[in-house]
Amino acid sequence: MKNNFFGKDLISVDQINMKDLQLFFDRADQMKSLVERQGGSQILKGKIMAAIFYEPSSRTFSSFIGAMQRLGGGIIPLNGMMNTSVAKGETLEDTAKVFSAYADIIVLRHPDAGACKIFAKQARVPVINAGDGIGEHPTQALIDLYTIKEELGRITKLHIMFIGDLAHYRPVNSLAKLMSICPEVKFTFVTPKEVTIQDCLREYLNAQKINYSEVNDFKDDLSAIDVLYVTRVKKEYMSGELYRRIKGSYIVNKDIANKMKKKSLIMHCLPRVDEISIDLDNDPRSVYFSSQLSNGLFMRMAILEAILRK
Ligand code: CP
Repeated sequence: MKNNFFGKDLISVDQINMKDLQLFFDRADQMKSLVERQGGSQILKGKIMAAIFYEPSSRTFSSFIGAMQRLGGGIIPLNGMMNTSVAKGETLEDTAKVFSAYADIIVLRHPDAGACKIFAKQARVPVINAGDGIGEHPTQALIDLYTIKEELGRITKLHIMFIGDLAHYRPVNSLAKLMSICPEVKFTFVTPKEVTIQDCLREYLNAQKINYSEVNDFKDDLSAIDVLYVTRVKKEYMSGELYRRIKGSYIVNKDIANKMKKKSLIMHCLPRVDEISIDLDNDPRSVYFSSQLSNGLFMRMAILEAILRK
């Protein structure tokens, strides 16, 4: 299968077509069996990945680091920029040039939407968007869709309900756009009126003629959905006043889950605060601490390999 990502940036899911998706899924399957069989390999020996995170991260940072190490590569790990020359005023553009001299690939997280695109223009090595403000989180979307395929056995004819603060939740922007290439998908976006989906996502879905609805209450649709995708209120991206108004708007608990199909999924890309009750953590439909989490490693190994190895 043709690898269109060799030597390329991964900034947005807009770059991914159905064949690319199949390639990433196949390679993630291979990475999973590689890790289970022998822990890893040396196929990226001699390559260096810089992980440059201007914003906090547990999963994305650690799974990219683990992915590179399991493939035999080296790392420049910067989880926070307070001890770098960014604290002295170095610009994003200059930082891109600097780390291009030291690394073969750069994984970037930044609080501003569009920052990864600006950075990638100045970088001389491939750049992966590890989350840019309220923009996108393409690697999370690949992990999420891979998990759906693995758990439900298909990526077609799916009804997915996204719930929470969708104005600020970049994984939802990426997953909804990525799933728009899958046949017969349907989305329900459930939000408080203050934090509906972004206009750019709405315009995208309209242009693609995707079947979707936007509502404030979610209880009526629960028996019809295949996936309930729960999100955190992104406190760090809003005023204290707005946060106090919308926090706790939706809490997913056993009563909610009882209305869902037996064969369905409860997903959350984490971190969770209080939007999913902990008594759901052991529900067989909850995958946020099981496959959705562990697939982060396998998919990120697959992405690094695709970009760095012909
Ligand atoms: N899902 C996710 O992006 O988590 P982190 O912010 O911990 O990387």
